[in-house]
Amino acid sequence: MKVLIVYDSVFGNTEKIALAIGNAMGPQTEVNILRVGNMKQENLRGLDVLIVGSPTRAFKPTKAITNSLKVIPKNSLMGVKVAAFDTRFTMEKIKSSFFMLPLLVNIFGYGAKPISELLKRNGGDLAAPPEGFLVEDVEGPLKEGEMERAANWAKKIFESIK
Ligand SMILES: Cc1cc2nc3c(=O)[nH]c(=O)nc-3n(C[C@H](O)[C@H](O)[C@H](O)COP(=O)(O)O)c2cc1C
Repeated sequence: MKVLIVYDSVFGNTEKIALAIGNAMGPQTEVNILRVGNMKQENLRGLDVLIVGSPTRAFKPTKAITNSLKVIPKNSLMGVKVAAFDTRFTMEKIKSSFFMLPLLVNIFGYGAKPISELLKRNGGDLAAPPEGFLVEDVEGPLKEGEMERAANWAKKIFESIK
């Protein structure tokens, strides 16, 4: 099984999650983990699974992630299992920040959902609902246990499509 994990990361937390996901895959998988700026169209060729992750920034994925998915040729993910994740604030952090933030988060959401919409729009077959992994502050750290949760999320995806 050929797997590509593409991520963006400003402070390194999303990168850690991407690596945890990559390490959780079985030995029969060929895994390529790429920062979004290093992804080329040819990396998409012959893929079985594509997983894309981004930090949530103002309720969305980063522009680099969005733009990279917008330029993928239409239907190029037909037959590819896809999944999206983001990193995001814990609810405690959201509640203790700007007083309107909980309401805005409720309305506008996080990064993973728009990523999975773009993946589906390009023909991808969603293997799992969009998932978020928690950071305690802007630069991290990841909340305790999130690396393990990411590994389990990945294992479930791979079990379901083997
Ligand atoms: C400019 C900016 C906007 C952010 N907006 C959100 C947001 O809307 N919702 C949220 O949960 N976290 C938000 N965060 C927190 C980021 O999600 C957090 O910095 C990120 O998960 C860290 O991942 P990274 O280390 O891979 O960059 C924001 C952070 C910054 C710096």
